[in-house]
Amino acid sequence: MSAELPAKKSNASRYLFLFLLGLVVGAVATVMAMRAIDQRSDHFPHSVMQVMGKHVGLLQRTVQQNRCAATDSVPHVRTLRAMSNDLELAFPDLAEDQRFTEHASQFRAKLDAALAAPPTDCAGAAKLVESAKESCQACHQDFRH
Ligand code: HEC
Repeated sequence: MSAELPAKKSNASRYLFLFLLGLVVGAVATVMAMRAIDQRSDHFPHSVMQVMGKHVGLLQRTVQQNRCAATDSVPHVRTLRAMSNDLELAFPDLAEDQRFTEHASQFRAKLDAALAAPPTDCAGAAKLVESAKESCQACHQDFRH
């Protein structure tokens, strides 16, 4: 009897150790799994949208700051135009949908027109911001879930 007692004690601490080890291994495995999932997902579509969102925001800021020369808006419109080339590349599944390509084409046409005749005052720049946002919303309404 007296020989069994110490053995029971050390078993309890062994279980505690194994339990804690299990927790640590589980946590590490979870982090590794989440990283693997994150790396496998394609960040490109979100990145295209984030960059466009940033430049629409910056374009809007030129109006708010009353800086509405063509040289203020054109760099943002150019970037939007360049990113808009990647809409189909970013969403290859949607690119087969005619409505998606129509939204994308109309957006590009709008930006082409803005580059051909850039706004020269804040009223024009504000209109351009609104018009760009309408294009974003039109496509999102149909395709963003
Ligand atoms: C031709 C279609 C189309 C146009 C035009 C478009 N978007 Fe998107 N956008 C999408 C789709 C599709 C998603 C959904 C992506 C997803 O969740 O997988 C999206 C998602 C987004 C997101 C969320 C991105 C993220 O990180 O999840 C932002 C921000 C965004 N768009 C901004 C814009 C802005 C700003 C414009 C206009 C300048 C714009 N989009 C124009 C199709 C479009």
